[in-house]
Amino acid sequence: MNLINKPLIVVENLCKGFEDGEVLRNVSFTIREGDLASIIGPSGCGKSTFMRCLNCLELLDSGSISIAGVTISRRPGQVPDEKMLDIAHEIRSEVGMVFQSYNLFPHKTIIENIMLAPMVVKKQPKDEVYEQAMKLLDKVGLKGFASKYPSTLSGGQSQRAAIARALAMNPRVMLYDEPTSALDPELVGEVLQVMKDLDAEGMTQIIVTHEMKFARDASDYIIFMDNGEIVEYDDGDILFTAPKSERTKAFLRHFVNTGVA
Ligand SMILES: Nc1ncnc2c1ncn2[C@@H]1O[C@H](COP(=O)(O)OP(=O)(O)OP(=O)(O)O)[C@@H](O)[C@H]1O
Ligand SMILES: [Mg+2]
Repeated sequence: MNLINKPLIVVENLCKGFEDGEVLRNVSFTIREGDLASIIGPSGCGKSTFMRCLNCLELLDSGSISIAGVTISRRPGQVPDEKMLDIAHEIRSEVGMVFQSYNLFPHKTIIENIMLAPMVVKKQPKDEVYEQAMKLLDKVGLKGFASKYPSTLSGGQSQRAAIARALAMNPRVMLYDEPTSALDPELVGEVLQVMKDLDAEGMTQIIVTHEMKFARDASDYIIFMDNGEIVEYDDGDILFTAPKSERTKAFLRHFVNTGVA
């Protein structure tokens, strides 16, 4: 946990619900530049909704989210106007997102997958984008895979290509929603290693994960969510060895008892 770098993500009283009721209740937290935070918590507690709100794939109901100095805020009941939607768009452009299912375009090669958004969305010149894409492929250990199609890659390779694709937009923050959950156990490590490498380079990252060992070893913070709330967030060693909340203790006990951690 570093207390020197400045806050890059500040969330205050974030609320979000759907027809069936409230999902996120007054979520507040701060992530500093270069931090790696892991979010853990039971199924259905709102982790994915939280990530989707953070990069404005879902518009918050109320509260505020600041990312790299861009702030979206909404009062309860406020009707979103064009300005709010523009800010949401701006936040999305600062945030790279990686999902459990890699979502690579099947009819494009790996390099084409990586080059598409910078060329179409950012209108960057092709030569420049190609050069950057090759560097990113190298970074995620896929140098020889530029002209391959996604169907020929393993799950771990596909997920690393998805990370390279997100990085191609030069995001200030990377969000991952269970990036290793669809992988065979022997492929999990290579994807987690990419996140560790990015951490060493100073990338700010938030990862929803069931990989408790990774969360504990690699994270600056662990955020434990339950029932739409952040129950506790702390240094990994503290949260795993001396959790303050009964709810955190019960969740961790369940993990130990089912042999997952
Ligand atoms: N688009 C949506 N419309 C309606 N309800 C939704 C929507 N997205 C999520 N929910 C509801 O919000 C709650 C939280 O879901 P969410 O997917 O955020 O949980 P999660 O913590 O990511 O769970 P898991 O660990 O299973 O992925 C669930 O009750 C879910 O049904
Ligand atoms: Mg989820």
